[in-house]
Amino acid sequence: MSDMADQHDGTRCVRAGLPEPVPGQPFLPGPVFAAPYHLDPWAGPAAAPDGYGRSDNPTRRLLEAAVGELEGGDCRVFASGQAAITGLLLTVLRPGDTVVLPSDGYFSVRAFAADTLEGIGVRVLLAPTAGPHPGFDGVRLVLLETPANPGLDVADVAALAARAHAAGALVAVDNTTATPLGQRPLDLGADVVVASGTKALTGHSDLLLGYVATRSAELRDAVTAWRNATGAVPGAFDAWLAHRSLATLDLRLARQTANAQALAGLLAGRADVTGVRWPGLPGDPAHLVASAQMRRIPGVLAFDLGDADRVARFLDAARLVFAATSFGGPHTTADRRAQWGDDTPPGFVRLSCGLEDAVDLVADVAAALDASR
Ligand SMILES: Cc1ncc(COP(=O)(O)O)c(C=O)c1O
Repeated sequence: MSDMADQHDGTRCVRAGLPEPVPGQPFLPGPVFAAPYHLDPWAGPAAAPDGYGRSDNPTRRLLEAAVGELEGGDCRVFASGQAAITGLLLTVLRPGDTVVLPSDGYFSVRAFAADTLEGIGVRVLLAPTAGPHPGFDGVRLVLLETPANPGLDVADVAALAARAHAAGALVAVDNTTATPLGQRPLDLGADVVVASGTKALTGHSDLLLGYVATRSAELRDAVTAWRNATGAVPGAFDAWLAHRSLATLDLRLARQTANAQALAGLLAGRADVTGVRWPGLPGDPAHLVASAQMRRIPGVLAFDLGDADRVARFLDAARLVFAATSFGGPHTTADRRAQWGDDTPPGFVRLSCGLEDAVDLVADVAAALDASR
């Protein structure tokens, strides 16, 4: 097979993780459902790659090969993004260590840090994604989330990785919002990628998935041991669905980005909408760093409608925008983040563009904004 690194995104997505062609076999083998596998009575587990489903599953391995090719590292998939992130944090951090987390990133990670990491004696420092960041002396791990969910600020991964490495810290990047087609943090100098594959990566709003990817064999083995010990694996059917969905990642992202561009233009031009954020907008505070660092801008944007009631009227009036949390799926969705405990203003909305036609979306959102005034 030719080297994927030479190929373009659509090609890389349709071929990612596929086994060598075998006449009579499917392109992507179906899910293998197994808890135990047959063992060789004499040689035991040494005779075959699969012995028990928590550690071994061929469907999962193919998905890991696919995501690993796209990220440019070795991948281990988890049952959810949260399982992957908490797995990495607990694999790396020990009592007495210091970790730097985004103050404006996915709130469950901060909650986990406050509830669990601080409880085992890990010092937690919070820093905004756009900076300023604290000095990294004495820090064990810096976790960046870029673009950050939900505020969509962007961190300069290469610059922060250089600073962190000079201080002896490891750097992890949450690549959920960008996906590996939006940026490859390992190429930018990060030691490890963590992500929720629940969002745009798999993109059909039908499964939960997480992953860790790294070029460090030591980190990969430690994360693998952690996953085996805690059992946070995705099932075979979800792994297969995820792999099947990867084939269309390039197409889905292209449509979502085009829709976000159209909607960001509409929203930015309206006097009754404030705080419009989309890193693709030339005036956006994240635009310069995002354009230098990212290969494409995701289809998620944010804006403020002033108060919770107007958001409800807007969602009620819109026919093409589902009220839902999560993002990156085929349907356009919007979420008032304050209702989940995010530290955002009451009228702050995160909107995830789906795969509808831009002309329909713009007309629907414009009409719903008018109706909600
Ligand atoms: C940036 C980010 N990281 C991690 C997660 C957690 O992923 P999951 O919901 O798959 O556990 C999310 C979920 O919204 C997220 O937005």
